[in-house]
Amino acid sequence: MKLLENRTALITGASRGIGNGIAIEFAKQGANVAFTFNASVEAAKALERELETYGVKAKGYQSNAADFDAAQELVKEVLNDFGSLEILINNAGITKDNLLMRISEEDFDKVIEVNLKSVFNLTKAVIRPMMKQRQGSIINMSSVVGVKGNAGQSNYAASKAGILGFTKSVALELGSRNIRCNAIAPGFIETEMTAKLDPNTVDEWRKAIPLKRGGSPEDVANACVFLASDMSAYITGQTINVDGGMLT
Ligand SMILES: NC(=O)c1ccc[n+]([C@@H]2O[C@H](COP(=O)([O-])OP(=O)(O)OC[C@H]3O[C@@H](n4cnc5c(N)ncnc54)[C@H](OP(=O)(O)O)[C@@H]3O)[C@@H](O)[C@H]2O)c1
Repeated sequence: MKLLENRTALITGASRGIGNGIAIEFAKQGANVAFTFNASVEAAKALERELETYGVKAKGYQSNAADFDAAQELVKEVLNDFGSLEILINNAGITKDNLLMRISEEDFDKVIEVNLKSVFNLTKAVIRPMMKQRQGSIINMSSVVGVKGNAGQSNYAASKAGILGFTKSVALELGSRNIRCNAIAPGFIETEMTAKLDPNTVDEWRKAIPLKRGGSPEDVANACVFLASDMSAYITGQTINVDGGMLT
């Protein structure tokens, strides 16, 4: 039996990387998938076609997760197109790394807006329909950097730590409505973004991870399947590290 049959998931930032992996695993588990992207129109079309091969409904929406009004409009459209919405995955995120000495106000604000405010925007937009349905699972993509901090990533770490506080608060507010809210803290996940890094540095990172490899988008997607499905029906307000033991 598929774990996510008869459910619709909205995944932000699925044109590439981790979000892409989540969309594919969700379709394999029978979920209908609405997903967003920022600029990658062609990649989004290709993903729509790929998801449909699993026999589910799929649609990509170009929508800036950092824009409050756009998020409200997006959820309205998804509900019109799909009829219901049981799962939200707040995955869209960016980095603008720099040492605090050099970081600009603009780069601090931008990362907070895209990574943290977006989580507020989308969560606020879905809770009314989820409350009516008396069912919902919200999964927020944090990072081990949000748990531990990281030199050169104060803006990113602040956004990802903020997500953890937000996640726990939503879990406490909406548990009585059968809406669960959890976070995932990925470690080093090998995506297009990390493929551009110096191979020697990446090799050093791999060696330092207890499981001796970087994670894949599928590793993160599998944790999302668990948190979205009834397999985790009694789990809310938690953070699952998907990091090969990095923070242990
Ligand atoms: N990779 C890692 O090692 C790692 C580790 C820990 C946490 N994470 C977190 O996991 C999430 C995904 O990371 P990733 O490595 O898969 O990133 P990625 O490959 O850079 O993909 C980012 C995705 O987000 C979309 N996006 C960016 N800005 C957006 C906006 N304003 N509105 C809507 N969508 C937007 C992008 O769309 P376009 O293609 O249109 O630009 C793309 O689909 C992020 O939240 C990241 O912080 C990643």
